Amino acid sequence: MKKRILSGMRPTGRLHLGNLHGALANWVDIQNKDIYDCFYFVADWHALTSDYKSTDLIKANSLDMVVDWLSVGLDPARSTLFVQSEVKEHAELFLILSMITPLSWLERNPTYKEMKTELSDKDISTFGFLGYPVLQAADIIMYKAYGVPVGVDQLPHVELTREIARRFNFLYKDVFPVPEPLLTEVPKLLGIDGRKMSKSYDNSIYLRDRGDVLRQKVSSMFTDPQRMRKKDPGRPEICNAFAFHQIYSPSSEVDEISDGCKKAKIGCVECKKRLAQRILDNMAPIHERQDYYLSHLEDVRGIIADGVQEASKIARLTMEQVREAVKI
Ligand code: TRP
Ligand code: SF4
Repeated sequence: MKKRILSGMRPTGRLHLGNLHGALANWVDIQNKDIYDCFYFVADWHALTSDYKSTDLIKANSLDMVVDWLSVGLDPARSTLFVQSEVKEHAELFLILSMITPLSWLERNPTYKEMKTELSDKDISTFGFLGYPVLQAADIIMYKAYGVPVGVDQLPHVELTREIARRFNFLYKDVFPVPEPLLTEVPKLLGIDGRKMSKSYDNSIYLRDRGDVLRQKVSSMFTDPQRMRKKDPGRPEICNAFAFHQIYSPSSEVDEISDGCKKAKIGCVECKKRLAQRILDNMAPIHERQDYYLSHLEDVRGIIADGVQEASKIARLTMEQVREAVKI
């Protein structure tokens, strides 16, 4: 039996390069190692915790997100792709775990405190929002996942999951393995305005961006702020465009650009033109698959339905053990 890997993403709609390099690329790598049984899912109930007042887009976003997953190389023949709300057992396990999770563990959750300040425009003083990590714990231990690939921001949630799993095992019966976080090495890629790449800042390069849209975005990227003219030597190590070159260009070109920038031989305009072309070339196969799936949405729905079936098999078995352990 292969060890199981599980991770999820909230359906925020179209994915950007930050999502790709921050998480998705790692999901694909793990899948391609071929030594794990991978489960990846759309956390649509989690989207409700902050967006319960405007739910119109959640369904469409979920489908859209799976299109992007498929286009970057998640392969339904090797990974199980599903939607959380289609596997109702998540709700039942969430309920049971909520009974045994001390409030104090949730109240001291750093992500909870941060989100409350960050999303101050939304009213998230709700029971559901406080319980976000309990639902996440249910997602993870339902599949007895060995590893959970996540970025650092999710570490407190995985840590809480571990505590909840231990508590269940201690109170009832040893049902759940304690999962390991698998930290994603995240290259530091910022949005075109130099802030964190995020949909809400309108500074993102999306996986759907093509041709001139993408060229335009790359050309407006912030670079070394001290480099006003081409004759000023630049500092590639602090330049966001250079960080992108390091991912998208071959190392010989990266070296040449680094040298050219420091010696003021290459200007930012040219540097970014070359970058845009590199990104477009790299994304060509992604865009091709995207076109395919966007014109075959029925296939995508079918892939999700198969994934739901596969996930449900495991979820049903786990819940039998849970009910037996809890004696309910
Ligand atoms: N909280 C995660 C995020 O915002 C999404 C998520 C929900 C998740 N359930 C999960 C991630 C289970 C890993 C495992 O990105
Ligand atoms: Fe950045 Fe390239 Fe300009 Fe140097 S030349 S500052 S690496 S954009």
